[in-house]
Amino acid sequence: MSKHCIITGCSRGIGKAIAGRLIEDGYRVTGTRRSAPFPEEFQSNSRFNGLTADLAENSDLEDVLGPLLKSGEADVLINNAGIFTDAAIWSDDNQWLDVWDRTQQVNLRAPALLTKWFVNACLEKKKEGIVINIASRAAYRGDTQEYAAYAASKAGLTAFTKSLARNLGKNGIVAYTIAPGFIETDMALESVEVLGREALTRDSAFDEITTPDEVAAIVSFLAKGEVKHMTGSTLHINGGSYMI
Ligand code: NAI
Repeated sequence: MSKHCIITGCSRGIGKAIAGRLIEDGYRVTGTRRSAPFPEEFQSNSRFNGLTADLAENSDLEDVLGPLLKSGEADVLINNAGIFTDAAIWSDDNQWLDVWDRTQQVNLRAPALLTKWFVNACLEKKKEGIVINIASRAAYRGDTQEYAAYAASKAGLTAFTKSLARNLGKNGIVAYTIAPGFIETDMALESVEVLGREALTRDSAFDEITTPDEVAAIVSFLAKGEVKHMTGSTLHINGGSYMI
């Protein structure tokens, strides 16, 4: 039986590329969406199962994703869904805090809870589990002040990943972070409005923006489970805009 991967936010962007690649590689994939339809090629594929869940809604987490993650059926959890919302440091406190709260909920709190359920189910079943968290280069180099909440959420997700990795390797659980720079998706295009198009390649070693397929290739590699001893690592993919 092929491995079963769960991925959040796969109706578009990086998540769509990852789900497509995993299906192509022969995995069974359960993907989530918030509202946009799943691509036709997923819906017609017997290895794909789609669920609708808003990560900002605790009831969706509990009712839609809880049963699956707690069942111990999954082998790989990919926390991909995320939001990138700006709030200037000089904006009204309530407005600023609202962006902080929504960002931490979707980008950090929800993935942490899904991971908790997944890990506990693996431990209970004494089976191996792989967690892949999509963070951001913002976790490492910060972001512009408007996106401070985003950078903080991704740094939190990265630290969470490392904590899992440190403690649970002996129980068969491994965890990785992927830290992309600008990737060619709707989310990156939102940055164009705030920062201008030139900002997307200004620091890159290339003239073009990284494609989601390259991120999907990393996930495909990690999901195989062949590099357990890389647990806790961050895989950076940012067009050489910084190197650590
Ligand atoms: P996107 O905006 O194209 O897609 C985001 C996905 O998350 C969508 O499927 C959306 O439905 C889902 N999502 C957002 N809020 C949700 C909610 N409340 N409940 C359920 N699903 C929700 O973004 P993209 O670029 O594909 O981003 C994917 C991940 O990669 C995100 O975590 C993002 O932070 C990260 N990333 C993206 C970069 C980029 O330049 N595109 C750079 C660094 C990290």
